[in-house]
Amino acid sequence: MKYFFLSGSLRKDSLNTKLLHMAAQHLNCPNSDIANLNDLSIPLYSGDIEAVGIPDNVQKLAKCIDQAQALIIATPEYNYSISGVLKNVIDWVSRVRPMPLKQKPILLMAVSPSQISGIRGLWQTRIPLEGLGNYVYPEMFSLGGSFQAFDDKGFVNPDDQKRFATTLDGFGKFSQALVRK
Ligand SMILES: Cc1cc2nc3c(=O)[nH]c(=O)nc-3n(C[C@H](O)[C@H](O)[C@H](O)COP(=O)(O)O)c2cc1C
Repeated sequence: MKYFFLSGSLRKDSLNTKLLHMAAQHLNCPNSDIANLNDLSIPLYSGDIEAVGIPDNVQKLAKCIDQAQALIIATPEYNYSISGVLKNVIDWVSRVRPMPLKQKPILLMAVSPSQISGIRGLWQTRIPLEGLGNYVYPEMFSLGGSFQAFDDKGFVNPDDQKRFATTLDGFGKFSQALVRK
């Protein structure tokens, strides 16, 4: 399977981006498959910018999404909802033709320092992705108390590690079944 990884956080020390690196490692994917949105500097969506031309970096990101068989997104919850950074990226990519964000298997994950774990944001994140016609995996991985939940060596609690591995492996099978169709 060819996965592409996208973080909803631009923060240098983002916990969600760290989680993506852990997922890429678990799935034996190269780090180059993890989007670096800081380097891409995608502008806020504007119909005026689009009228001049979809920015090259949006096209570049859209190509990575198009070439992937499945996406793994890890994103913070901002104020009970989707990260604005991620929503902006979805909005831009939805304007590219042919539109690559459809019929893709997508896994959603979130980590948050709060005990609530970012799950509310993931439910909101499903909406535009499902609206565009993607296959968002029913199980979502969310982890609370995350400043303590993992460090550079991995998860502190073996149960979290097990849940993480089970979710990724389950998503792998789900994606393979859809891609074979
Ligand atoms: C504007 C803003 C709103 C936030 N709202 C929530 C929230 O609703 N729920 C939550 O669990 N954490 C919330 N947080 C805390 C983030 O989950 C926390 O900063 C997290 O570490 C961000 O993810 P990152 O480490 O990947 O950058 C918020 C943070 C910011 C900056």
